[in-house]
Amino acid sequence: MHTQPEFLKLRQHMQSVIVGQAALLDRILIGVLTGGHLLLEGAPGLAKTTAVKALASGVHASFQRIQFTPDLMPADLTGSEVFDPQQRRFDFMPGPLFHEIILADEINRAPPKVQSALLEAMEEHQITVGAQTHPLPALFIVMATQNPLEQAGTYPLPEAQLDRFLLHVTIDYPSQDEELAILRRDRQTHFGEDRIDLESRLQPDTVLKARHEVAEVHIEPTIEEYVVRLTHATRHLGEWIEEWADYIDFGASPRATLALVRAASAYAYLQGREYVIPDDVIEMAPDVLRHRILPSFNAKAKQVTSAMIIARLLERIPIP
Ligand SMILES: Nc1ncnc2c1ncn2[C@@H]1O[C@H](COP(=O)(O)OP(=O)(O)OP(=O)(O)O)[C@@H](O)[C@H]1O
Ligand SMILES: [Mg+2]
Repeated sequence: MHTQPEFLKLRQHMQSVIVGQAALLDRILIGVLTGGHLLLEGAPGLAKTTAVKALASGVHASFQRIQFTPDLMPADLTGSEVFDPQQRRFDFMPGPLFHEIILADEINRAPPKVQSALLEAMEEHQITVGAQTHPLPALFIVMATQNPLEQAGTYPLPEAQLDRFLLHVTIDYPSQDEELAILRRDRQTHFGEDRIDLESRLQPDTVLKARHEVAEVHIEPTIEEYVVRLTHATRHLGEWIEEWADYIDFGASPRATLALVRAASAYAYLQGREYVIPDDVIEMAPDVLRHRILPSFNAKAKQVTSAMIIARLLERIPIP
């Protein structure tokens, strides 16, 4: 846990830019701490882009923002082979994905084949172009943003691949007090009172060390069983919520079980604890599971969302 204070410093730095949104900032740090990719969803203007930029400015890592648009091509992300007439051979020109922190902004504005190129890189941690496979940097994480899906002119992400995101974070509107603080802070930054101290940026080595420490956070067998029970319950909903027995078409995969333990461990680490408690699991379960279960037609007809199903499961399954 030697690296934990460094992460608290990074959070402080992000808090100097972002007012409130504590859960969002925690989740961004959890992404960095686990190497897990994040899907950030919220209405326009809720500081999704600003929060990821605040992270990038606090970490000594290469940062790339990719604006997703309808005319983007997969090669615009991955890079491509370019013919060098002098050497008479093809050379690989790496695309913008070959960076450490990627902000995939408004990911649902690009068509499915571009989204697939991103999702593939996220899963494989490497990119294949032609016959060559190119590894991505060790630190590589994707923070993707999207607006709620009802908006026109967008392509929903493929449901079957959504579970490549460690967390699906939904962002809410600020309170009135927070909004007042946002207003005042915005005016301050115009006077240049908000400079980033480059010396104190988090080093990549520290991030990699912290990932080891998170992997070593202790978890009791009873809590492991609780996690597995939660994931299984999404596949056998009727055993826990009889009245909603047919409300899930597809439950969460074992990848969800792994993700929940990782996220809970990182959350424990951020609280300065070397062991996971049930509250860590309960805190992370909604963001880990929300995008990994597919509510049935019946559920949608009754306006029961995956978030509501997870909340009820957390109520019903006994806490160890
Ligand atoms: N909680 C907050 N703290 C500080 N600034 C905020 C906060 N919420 C919104 N803002 C400000 O609101 C503006 C919009 O933020 P931003 O561009 O990050 O939103 P977004 O969620 O990425 O929106 P979009 O979905 O349209 O891309 C920025 O100037 C940002 O600084
Ligand atoms: Mg934005």
